[in-house]
Amino acid sequence: MNAVPQAVLQQRQDVLDSLGRHWNPTAALMLAAASRPVEQSASGTEVISEEGDRFLDLAGSYGVFLVGHGNPQVRDAVLDTLCTAPTVPPGAVHPATAELFELLTTILPAGLDRFVLGCSGAEISETALRAVHLARPDRRRILIAEGGYHGKTLGALTVLGQPNHREPFEPLGSELITVPYGDAAAVREALADRSVAAVFLEPVLGGAHLTVPPEGYIEEVAAACRATGTLFVADEIQTCLGRTGKMFAVEHDDVVPDILLFSKALTGGFIPVGVCALSSEVVAQAERHPLWHPSLLAGSSSISALSVSAATAAIREVIAKNLPHRAATLGPRLTEGLAEVARRHPKHLLGAPGVGVMAGLRTRNPSVELLISMVMARHGIHTGHSLNEQIDHPVLRFYPPLTITAEEIDRVLAALEATMTWLDRRPRRLTDGITKLIRRQYQLPPWLVLKLSHSKMRVDW
Ligand SMILES: Cc1ncc(COP(=O)(O)O)c(C=O)c1O
Repeated sequence: MNAVPQAVLQQRQDVLDSLGRHWNPTAALMLAAASRPVEQSASGTEVISEEGDRFLDLAGSYGVFLVGHGNPQVRDAVLDTLCTAPTVPPGAVHPATAELFELLTTILPAGLDRFVLGCSGAEISETALRAVHLARPDRRRILIAEGGYHGKTLGALTVLGQPNHREPFEPLGSELITVPYGDAAAVREALADRSVAAVFLEPVLGGAHLTVPPEGYIEEVAAACRATGTLFVADEIQTCLGRTGKMFAVEHDDVVPDILLFSKALTGGFIPVGVCALSSEVVAQAERHPLWHPSLLAGSSSISALSVSAATAAIREVIAKNLPHRAATLGPRLTEGLAEVARRHPKHLLGAPGVGVMAGLRTRNPSVELLISMVMARHGIHTGHSLNEQIDHPVLRFYPPLTITAEEIDRVLAALEATMTWLDRRPRRLTDGITKLIRRQYQLPPWLVLKLSHSKMRVDW
């Protein structure tokens, strides 16, 4: 990449200063260390920096940009609605809402035909939790998987499988049972006494824990739920709309959960929105709660003509371009390519979990993840780094928009091979040492982090 002009560096510095002072100092420091350029625009698979450098976006905001950055069909729908729609009525009497609901019934597993919308993934996780407690008032326990993630609002935190994010806020509302992800026998055993209200599970464990479960796992969990009257909540906030090679990941196991949550890719990145899809049976059970009221599941600002028209347009794009099929056919090029790189570079890589275009590299330690993402950025490729996660073997994620081509995937793999060859020449004690520094990042002098990364940025926030 060309030398960065002084004015551009200064603008980058101003943005990072603001992020560091007013948002998240650690994240800002990491972005500074990675010499992350300021983004100016994005289109399809690419993010373009203010100095005109083009980056292939393999991070994709952890799954948001499935239909490509700035998808023209979704953008036009949003603009049309923006110019014509009335303000948000709580009753949402707008044709766009009805159109979305009808469309949802054609793509969701049969039987999931009641919808509550929310403004984020965490909000719809909470909606699901409320529905569960209304439908199973005599059971308070919730089963979750280690490493599971369902959002960070207080309600969503009660079912989070990542103690470092949950414990500071305890005691929280739900009585949790945590089992290892992928272990169906542990789920069966935990549900046996029929005291568990619901299982909250991602059909593919996302985040820095990225794990594809053993074949049949989701089917076995669903069967255990059916046998014990436990509700099965599938969190497809990351896996929805084709990313794993099926419209919804539960379809790999032919499972219909009681509640299915989806968000991220849902509006092509234009407006955050999520759907909590429930079976009529669960809603009927909730309605039998002695204190039931129809407003208990809804919120007042969750349905806007703008968000529903964006969602409708994005789903139509997914259908028109048959993106689940594209993920299924193109995905192996990425996942198998990453697995080959992992096999060639065992010094720093432990494997390459993935399905469809939900792919990653399991790294030996957090500094390997950081260094790969920094060097890949120098090759013009953004990857999904886990930033503040505190896990031993974080997975660096590759969640590209599905506008990605086979040639672009090959470019990513070639850059990764070059990155790993560079990294392999570094002694392991270097990455072990940097990992220790990352773990203590809050106490570390930021200038040292910048010096280690050869960044030109300053940190004075
Ligand atoms: C599986 C899963 N559930 C829930 C959430 C929370 O979504 P949000 O960040 O929109 O609240 C996320 C976000 O990353 C997620 O990946």
